Amino acid sequence: MTTAFPSLSWKAGFLAALATIPPPTTATSTTSTSKRGLAYLGDTHTGDDELLYSANSSLAWYYNWSPNAITTIPSSLPFVPLLHGLADASSSTLQSTLGALPSTSTHLLTFNEPDGTTDSGGSAISPSDAAQAYIDDIVPLRTDSSREWLISHPATTGSDSGLSWLREFNASCWEIDAENGCPLDFVALHWYGDFAGLASWLGTLYEFYVTNGTSSSSSSSSQNLTFWITEMALPQASADETLAMMNQSLSYLDSLSYVEAYAWYGTDRKSSSWDGYTGGNVAVFTSGGALTDVGALYLGGEKDGFKAGMKGAAGRGFGVSWAAAVLATVGFALSMS
Ligand SMILES: *[C@@H]1O[C@H](CO)[C@@H](O)[C@H](O)[C@H]1NC(C)=O
Ligand SMILES: *[C@@H]1O[C@H](CO)[C@@H](O)[C@H](O)[C@H]1NC(C)=O
Ligand SMILES: *[C@@H]1O[C@H](CO)[C@@H](O)[C@H](O)[C@H]1NC(C)=O
Ligand SMILES: *[C@@H]1O[C@H](CO)[C@@H](O)[C@H](O)[C@H]1NC(C)=O
Ligand SMILES: *[C@@H]1O[C@H](CO)[C@@H](O)[C@H](O)[C@H]1NC(C)=O
Repeated sequence: MTTAFPSLSWKAGFLAALATIPPPTTATSTTSTSKRGLAYLGDTHTGDDELLYSANSSLAWYYNWSPNAITTIPSSLPFVPLLHGLADASSSTLQSTLGALPSTSTHLLTFNEPDGTTDSGGSAISPSDAAQAYIDDIVPLRTDSSREWLISHPATTGSDSGLSWLREFNASCWEIDAENGCPLDFVALHWYGDFAGLASWLGTLYEFYVTNGTSSSSSSSSQNLTFWITEMALPQASADETLAMMNQSLSYLDSLSYVEAYAWYGTDRKSSSWDGYTGGNVAVFTSGGALTDVGALYLGGEKDGFKAGMKGAAGRGFGVSWAAAVLATVGFALSMS
């Protein structure tokens, strides 16, 4: 392996941050040890939020494919910024945007599916352009005097073209910087397909970065790369097949020490705009805001009190009575004035 990296680990960073901020009312021991993340697709339903951020929820971090956090998500859930493409990386406001994030933000994800087209959410960047931007704009963030970020290499599509892209990216990195290449702290990957394919793709990248990467060490310090699966799902399958794939994948990923984090795609309701590609059975909530089987399992399952069909209080109609209470209060205030 090739470079030194800050010894701050994800959990250490998170626990250190917890020690310095007031304990959030929703935090439990589950939260600090879970690898499970929320891939935020725009769900703004209050009832859904109540379940996602409840004390027993397994969700321990979130991201939204952008460098900007979501103000309605409790700050007790660490936010992981992502630089989607070249424009994000070279933005003149990048430093100030990242600098404004809470100290619980420690990891930075880079270029989203650069081997994919913009139509499918990719960033369509050539390996050499990506390497140049990574070295110019992203590598300095690892050692910035005001704030050191743990950074990932770009997350390609889970495919042969993704692996080819990473090979060319690596070659370009070493052409541009013969001493350091493109240093990284963790590997981010995506997988859409069955469990066997997930295990195989993860194994391929482990071989690429760790097994084969070791021999290329140009530095005396070794690094322990961790792996993040930032998008995964079984698209276009039945509800039962989807649940079985998630179940097997969660146990497997939880058991691997080099897997630090993962996020199911995505945390939203069925019949959202994105399920034309994935199919609706990946959804965590039904279109009416009740947990699906997949959603209940992802939040922790029955042992933690999550069952299919559950809704947050606002989703059960308390939102209406809450609104009525607000209106009554406003009416009262008005009648007093
Ligand atoms: C790892 O190295 C072996 C031997 O050179 C090679 O056959 C294999 O394709 C490499 N694996 C990856 C994922 O690049
Ligand atoms: C990246 O390229 C360098 C230089 O050719 C090589 O030594 C190293 O093994 C490559 N790393 C990976 C992960 O393929
Ligand atoms: C890498 O991990 C091994 C085993 O967990 C540990 O002994 C070693 O200190 C770690 N090295 C670094 C540089 O963190
Ligand atoms: C998940 O798998 C385990 C072990 O294979 C099994 O006992 C459990 O019932 C499964 N859970 C779900 C929700 O499918
Ligand atoms: C939270 O999980 C614990 C077990 O981990 C369980 O005993 C408790 O009832 C759950 N709380 C709720 C509100 O479901």
